[in-house]
Amino acid sequence: MIVTELAKTGVFIPEIGLGTWEYHAGPLPLRKGLDAGALFIDTAESYGSESVVGKAVRGLRDRVFLATKVSPQNFRPADLSRSVEASLKRLGTDFVDLLQLHEPNSAIPIDETMGAVVKLITAGKVKFVGVSNFSVTQLYAAQKALGRFPIVSNQVRYNIIDRTIETELLPYCRVNHVTVIAYCPLARGLSRIRDCDPTGAIDELSRETGKSPAQIVINWCVCQAGVVAIPKGNSVEHILDNCGASDWRLSQEQLALLNERVQHRRRNRFDQLVRQWVPGPLQSLAIQTLNAMPPGIRRRFR
Ligand SMILES: NC(=O)c1ccc[n+]([C@@H]2O[C@H](COP(=O)([O-])OP(=O)(O)OC[C@H]3O[C@@H](n4cnc5c(N)ncnc54)[C@H](OP(=O)(O)O)[C@@H]3O)[C@@H](O)[C@H]2O)c1
Repeated sequence: MIVTELAKTGVFIPEIGLGTWEYHAGPLPLRKGLDAGALFIDTAESYGSESVVGKAVRGLRDRVFLATKVSPQNFRPADLSRSVEASLKRLGTDFVDLLQLHEPNSAIPIDETMGAVVKLITAGKVKFVGVSNFSVTQLYAAQKALGRFPIVSNQVRYNIIDRTIETELLPYCRVNHVTVIAYCPLARGLSRIRDCDPTGAIDELSRETGKSPAQIVINWCVCQAGVVAIPKGNSVEHILDNCGASDWRLSQEQLALLNERVQHRRRNRFDQLVRQWVPGPLQSLAIQTLNAMPPGIRRRFR
């Protein structure tokens, strides 16, 4: 597994970590992923997966880079501290390597939140601080509020068909040494990616390289400077397949072919706002409805 430096921390993390949103396969598949070198797990207090992650890392804790998230409704100092204590308990550990603010919350001053985060760092309960779904402006404000400690990562949606962050956020993160943790690197399922690949470029490269389609698209992600990826698999087969997306590189020609033939979009601001404000359950319903439509129509909404 190729490792990459987290921001400018001197700490190296695997370029492929294990996502755990809607994970329900028990500790074993995660453990197999850890054994395969993906010694980096991403969870969140809202995922309901912290306990299973705790079981998966038992006996290996000192080798695993453990990342969790605090939910935006818990950004007031007392709530945040209670929240993190509860996460630590579920994870069966004394500290997390990375605590991420799950989403911005404009109703709570970021200075207050970061004040509480600093106390957790000082107490040794949090090693590094990251954010998730933060825009450039929000990231800048968060860093200002955190003061002398760096924000080491921003976890955002990034994959071969959704390249929204390339316009502004990714360049900003690169210049400011903030690692981008790409979530949904498989676009939540390969079928969505295939919808955007009408000429079959991914399958073509899969045959040429002997790598699976999932490995091709995850490798595309980690080929982008400053980016690590956290695919989620619910089986040993999927998790090991995803781990095999590291230790090799698509060539420049192969990357160019994917960039040319796989259709991608960069969401405009309106689109991003809808995603930010439409409640999660409704988003799922919208996605399911979209998935039931013919590929030609689906592509237009991606
Ligand atoms: N910060 C945030 O707001 C945020 C938001 C979304 C996600 N995340 C994080 O990012 C992680 C990944 O995102 P995600 O779970 O939404 O989507 P994803 O990793 O892009 O895709 C997961 C889907 O791909 C399938 N899959 C996995 N490996 C595969 C393989 N090798 N071949 C074919 N299909 C495969 C999975 O099926 P099975 O489940 O059947 O294996 C699942 O349906 C999450 O688990 C979470 O940790 C963070």
